[in-house]
Amino acid sequence: MHFLPEAIDQYILEHSVKEPEFLAKLNRETNQKVLQPRMLSGNYQGRILSLISKIIAPKSILEIGTYTGYSALCLAEGLTKDGILHTIDINEELYDFQQKYFQASEYKNQIKQYIGDAREIIPEIDAKFDLVFIDADKPNYPAYFDLIIGKMIPGGVILSDNVLWSGKVVEPVKPEDESTRALLKYNKMLAEDERVETVILPIRDGLTLTRVK
Ligand SMILES: C[S@@+](CC[C@H](N)C(=O)[O-])C[C@H]1O[C@@H](n2cnc3c(N)ncnc32)[C@H](O)[C@@H]1O
Repeated sequence: MHFLPEAIDQYILEHSVKEPEFLAKLNRETNQKVLQPRMLSGNYQGRILSLISKIIAPKSILEIGTYTGYSALCLAEGLTKDGILHTIDINEELYDFQQKYFQASEYKNQIKQYIGDAREIIPEIDAKFDLVFIDADKPNYPAYFDLIIGKMIPGGVILSDNVLWSGKVVEPVKPEDESTRALLKYNKMLAEDERVETVILPIRDGLTLTRVK
């Protein structure tokens, strides 16, 4: 969901750094060939992920929710020369699509793809992270935070997508709406956890910026 008027969204795009052609191609191919292309971060959020990553210059990034690889490639733009990005997705049908773009990119030797449930894979990754992007199934956001907090480098940053969930976090919750309930729990958890400092940014569907103390 976009919370700003369309004209403001457009103005912001016109005055922000442009999407690289390689990523625009990935974006187009996702829209042509893959189900639910709305899941892809897209031009504006992608440039934000890229800039945050460049500011941090991480050695080690974890992404939960690869989808077609768009956000992974944005985050990889900030990696140090010897840095590694680990990216996990449960949907094995996306592997070849991701692989095609990762291999064609300048980060082909710096991206490690994992297929499977992130709750099982995260404990197996022997690394500490200075940047994490959580963008997978919403009911597991609290579990993902619990799994990664002990693997964060002090000063590391956790970004969490869709935390405003089209505004549903401030509306009455339907009994069957597990995702909104999980996000309400997650947002409260992060706001109250003394190990981190958190602000929610009203970017696209809500992007949380969390710094680990
Ligand atoms: C919103 S999409 C990710 C979009 C991607 N980060 C981007 O911006 O281009 C969410 C992805 O999470 C994956 N996913 C869902 N549950 C998962 C789980 N338990 N473990 C790992 N990946 C999961 C889905 O298969 C889907 O591809």
